[in-house]
Amino acid sequence: MKISPKMKKALNDQIALESSAANSYLAMASWCEVTGYQGAADFFYAQSDEEKTHMLKIVHYLNDIGAVATIPAIKAPVSSYKSLEGLIKTALKNEQAVTKAIHKMVEIAQKEKDHGTYAFLEWFVNEQVQEETKFETILQKFDLLGRDKLGINEIDKVLAADAAAPEPAA
Ligand SMILES: [Fe+2]
Ligand SMILES: [Fe+2]
Repeated sequence: MKISPKMKKALNDQIALESSAANSYLAMASWCEVTGYQGAADFFYAQSDEEKTHMLKIVHYLNDIGAVATIPAIKAPVSSYKSLEGLIKTALKNEQAVTKAIHKMVEIAQKEKDHGTYAFLEWFVNEQVQEETKFETILQKFDLLGRDKLGINEIDKVLAADAAAPEPAA
């Protein structure tokens, strides 16, 4: 299958975006771990692994169609946060940026009548709906459970439970 240079560039840019999301979540996990939020640390270590699988999906797609993936250098992520809530807000913003990029790729695929890439991207469109909902739901917990030590401890437990739950098949 042949894809346009524009589509190929967008997919390669997405490899960089997923890769930097993986790196950013790894830094968040590490911050949570040293701060004493073990549940949140488990959650973000798992989240980082997930982003790596997203990156690999695109690498394999490009290579399988003979377009050749480019593995990018990634910038050092932010490594320090003021609060768990601030960290989760940053994560939600990350996800919103990723969603935008994916929607742009879908538009390119539509415009170019690239049905193969369009079908490939459908999984990512659905994934982003879930990802944004996931982080919005966690953010809501700060209003529901509170921002004091007890509230944060409860939220940490919620995140631990999420990290322990089996991932739905991708
Ligand atoms: Fe992702
Ligand atoms: Fe994500």
